Amino acid sequence: MTDKLIIFDTTLRDGEQSPGASMTREEKIRIAKALERMGVDVIEAGFPIASIGDFDAVKAVATVVKNSTVCGLARALNRDIDTAAEALKPASSRRIHTFIATSPIHMKMKLRMEPEQVIEQAVAAVKRARRYTDDVEFSAEDAGRSDIDFLCRIIESAIAAGATTVNIPDTVGYNLPNQFGSLIKTLIERIPNSDKAVFSVHCHNDLGLAVGNSLSGVLSGARQVECTVNGLGERAGNAALEEIVMAVRTRRDVFPCDVRLDTTQIVYCSRLVSNITGFPVQPNKAIVGANAFAHESGIHQDGVLKNRETYEIMRAEDVGWHANRIVLGKHSGRNAFRTRLRELGVEFSREEDLNEAFRRFKALADRKHEIYDEDLQALVTEADLAVSNERVKWVSLCVYSETGESPKSKITLWINGEERSHTAEGSGPVDATFKAIESIVDSGCTLLLYSVNALTTGTDALGEVTVRLDNAGRTVNGQGVDTDVIAASAKAYINALNKVMNPVARYHPQSEETATYVAVRKFPLVSNLLKLNSII
Ligand code: KIV
Ligand code: ZN
Repeated sequence: MTDKLIIFDTTLRDGEQSPGASMTREEKIRIAKALERMGVDVIEAGFPIASIGDFDAVKAVATVVKNSTVCGLARALNRDIDTAAEALKPASSRRIHTFIATSPIHMKMKLRMEPEQVIEQAVAAVKRARRYTDDVEFSAEDAGRSDIDFLCRIIESAIAAGATTVNIPDTVGYNLPNQFGSLIKTLIERIPNSDKAVFSVHCHNDLGLAVGNSLSGVLSGARQVECTVNGLGERAGNAALEEIVMAVRTRRDVFPCDVRLDTTQIVYCSRLVSNITGFPVQPNKAIVGANAFAHESGIHQDGVLKNRETYEIMRAEDVGWHANRIVLGKHSGRNAFRTRLRELGVEFSREEDLNEAFRRFKALADRKHEIYDEDLQALVTEADLAVSNERVKWVSLCVYSETGESPKSKITLWINGEERSHTAEGSGPVDATFKAIESIVDSGCTLLLYSVNALTTGTDALGEVTVRLDNAGRTVNGQGVDTDVIAASAKAYINALNKVMNPVARYHPQSEETATYVAVRKFPLVSNLLKLNSII
């Protein structure tokens, strides 16, 4: 009999911990809906105690998602658990995920606690979480570097206290596949009540082994994998959802379990996460990279034409790749526009938002005759990108470039209530444009990354630009889309600047920094919500 492998997606929590990948509530809702449509079993929506924004986002996801379990992360602390429970209240199916570190180095240096105290705190946390829901997950942070005897004891205690899922994270991506697999096997064999909980794996990719380690865990008996779309996540990221799912599907001969996902949604989800976070997908990335199914060499092409299985182990269409399909054009009406967006998981709660998106669609259709799903997605993402309380707004751009001459760019911005223009020269038109913006804003930021990506084929394609800025150690990503790549670049730079100027104060789940609590009238659990010292 084939077991079910539970897919636990943590794009909205661990994925969001990537520097610069933080998402707004609306962005999280869109990703959550796409994950739900794909059939993800559990969606970890965030860390509710981290900030009011996180609390709000988890609550919003819990409200809209109906067919997946919504999960909130909580340290093994009463206030974290109570806040997570409060945020998850609207969910049809909810899970509280509580964790504490179990490796000698974490217990001694980070927690400054004795192992016995750690067990006590874990047990108390699981019991408290069980007051709110029957679905409680316990994670032993840094399990990959923990002492096996201690790990057996704490997990046995957590299960006895009511944990229904026990998660074994390789938090720092240190393990090797054979080692990690035998860790899972040993735990399942040695823990007397291991049959009372689902064993889960959560692997980081520091040595590029997150997927390999996770699959090895599955072969050893784990029946939940924690993963993220595109492998987004802290440092080198987490195990990539698309790789886990397709490995299990493609190698049914090896895995004694299966997933219930609609894999044809994979490419869509990948694009959505990439557009929203501004983290481009490398072309040779397995499953979702642009070249993942492209056969360049003559020998390969010949083989694939004769019989596709000569070089393809999966079908491109099974993961959602299809030739760009024209969906709408200049003459499409508002209804067709709304219907297609609905099919893509985008709903407008306010009529004005639909009208504004439709206006932008018409403007795009004037410049670009054939509008694809990717274009529609970008149009909506562009609206989502708008940072609330924008301090700098784009007004216009004029670029001059001629062979043998230094390119010049004149930008006009709306800043602090007035319109200001500046012209600058640069080594290229984008460089000149960024210099012109900086002459007005003078942000002091360092440009860490500039990348351009064409959303569809054809020279009239929308160009999608990502700009990563560093401001005193804080990293933000900005995105811009336009058929004019220089304009897209300017928009991306301005988007990043607005994020720099609107810092979101958040608390990191794995830091033990002391938090200051403030009363916030808006929430019932006021004293539980954190106020952080401003980041910039
Ligand atoms: O990597 C990790 O250990 C985590 C835990 C919070 C599960 O993300
Ligand atoms: Zn993690």
